[in-house]
Amino acid sequence: MGRIPQEIIDQVLDRTDIVEVVSDRIQVKKAGRSFKACCPFHNEKTPSFIVSPEKQIFHCFGCGAGGNAIGFVMKYENMEFPEAVRILAAKAGVDIPRYEQRDAERDSIAARLYEINRLAAAFYQNALRSEGGRKALEYLKGRGMNSDAMNEFRVGYAPDEWEALRRYCEKKNVPPDLLRKAGLTIPSTKGKGDYDKFRNRIMFPIFNERGNIVAFGGRVLDDSQPKYMNSPETPIYNKSNVLYGLNSGKKSIREKGRAVIVEGYTDVIMPFQYGVTNLVAASGTALTSGQVRLLKKYSDTAVMVFDADQAGEAASLRGLDILLESGMNVKIAALPEGEDPDSYVRKNGKEGFEQALDNAKGLFEYKLDLLIEKLGERDIGGIADEMLPTISRINNAVVQSDHIRRLAERLGVHEASLRYEMGKVKPDYSYHYESEVKIDGDPRNYRSSEIHLLGLAISDRKMFKRLSEELGLGMFRDIKVSRVLGVVGDCYREDSGSINPGKLISRLEGDEGAKAAVVQALAKLDITKDREKALNDCMTCVRREARDEKLKELSVRLKKAQDKNDDPEIRSILEKINRIHKEKVI
Ligand code: GTP
Ligand code: MN
Repeated sequence: MGRIPQEIIDQVLDRTDIVEVVSDRIQVKKAGRSFKACCPFHNEKTPSFIVSPEKQIFHCFGCGAGGNAIGFVMKYENMEFPEAVRILAAKAGVDIPRYEQRDAERDSIAARLYEINRLAAAFYQNALRSEGGRKALEYLKGRGMNSDAMNEFRVGYAPDEWEALRRYCEKKNVPPDLLRKAGLTIPSTKGKGDYDKFRNRIMFPIFNERGNIVAFGGRVLDDSQPKYMNSPETPIYNKSNVLYGLNSGKKSIREKGRAVIVEGYTDVIMPFQYGVTNLVAASGTALTSGQVRLLKKYSDTAVMVFDADQAGEAASLRGLDILLESGMNVKIAALPEGEDPDSYVRKNGKEGFEQALDNAKGLFEYKLDLLIEKLGERDIGGIADEMLPTISRINNAVVQSDHIRRLAERLGVHEASLRYEMGKVKPDYSYHYESEVKIDGDPRNYRSSEIHLLGLAISDRKMFKRLSEELGLGMFRDIKVSRVLGVVGDCYREDSGSINPGKLISRLEGDEGAKAAVVQALAKLDITKDREKALNDCMTCVRREARDEKLKELSVRLKKAQDKNDDPEIRSILEKINRIHKEKVI
């Protein structure tokens, strides 16, 4: 299923009236130019839920919920974004191409493929315990794996023959084409019937969340290549939506409140054998958003384990961004060079391994340390380029703001300039499209003047122009506000008319914080009598804030310089402080 194009979303919103969408579902009452209702998203007796036909948005003053028609359907019907768009599209008569197979057909094939995989796993398990599997069993025992662990994970062995599984399945009347569809056999080019895909390999069945076997990973018994061979993608196996170990580990992940993400099959199995059971593996691929969504059902905290030499790899860092963006609390545990969880737990036992997990660093420190090590302390541009997109993915405005402050401190640059750069970072909506929708943080934390200015900028092109010329768009502390202002600027450039807030919101899909900012901003606008005065007052307030911020930063630097007795630096900082005090804020 692909991403729904923005044109289609726009079309749907053009032909949809949010008042109709809402009043189809709850009772609304006309109140002036808007409609009022008791909020369906929290308990209340007096209505604080407003629907605006002009702006095509809804907003609750009680609980802070708000958004456009799509957002309302998602929240009310508890749907994902694409599903909500489809519902509205159907009603509005907009055609969205469908790619899915017919469900019933797909389900019956799935059930049969699960059954075949179960059969194959049992066959491999038996083979491991038979004469032909002796070498394999010795290999596993030599690695320290006990039979409990082998049974728990249904580890097996694919015999060193071309047609062992195929013949076994023939006897059980499994249709050859289904066996092929399961990815377990491959058609012979010589027309002699199919042959087994996995031969002379240790077999690790891969379970889905519900315990069905969806695929296999097969490991060689020696150093030959490829070390691991995996099932191809099949109707039941999409490798970016499966986490190895989730089925056996989910209970303990939930109990412990954290999931440990490792790399390989044996890195899940061996710690499990030692009693650490809250592990999952992405199995060789960088973590995907689908995998993170699975994980999030069980825990909000993830510890990623890397070994020291691979820790800096781009692939792992990408995985980190995906975790962050999903609102997960991410930590990194680094093992000594050359160790993986399997070898580490065998050497250090359960306590040693758990110790390493407890020592995990927060993602921010971890990534920054790594970049400083890689690029050198003085490559401020390079470090900022890598850190800002990561920070921009954090869904909580308060945490995000704090990270910017700390980054500015570490790099010795003005926070305001980082914020300005940050405003230019475009979020990658392709990630967001899949990611879960959740409102993080309290929207009331948005600093009131910034939000107010945002509302004014949305309401009127001239106000936006004054804001960008007289204050500068880089002055905003709140990243979400900067981001929305960037999009507002795009809208004014693209279109000579005024801004339709419902559509503005649809351009921010996936960024709940930004959407909430828009809704809050428009709510402020409703209670503004004199917009001209509000603009001036709020700009002054933001300037004062920026000045205080700068003074705070300078005083930190001053203290450092005084500690080091660095006289020239002390003098230069004092000069700057004086200059700021002389400047008029208004
Ligand atoms: P052991 O060597 O048995 O301890 O396995 P490991 O899990 O420690 O292997 P490694 O750290 O080399 O690789 C981590 C994961 O990447 C594995 O569990 C596999 O899922 C995957 N992987 C490794 N090598 C290959 C390969 O050659 N082909 C494929 N498709 N995947 C691989
Ligand atoms: Mn290993």
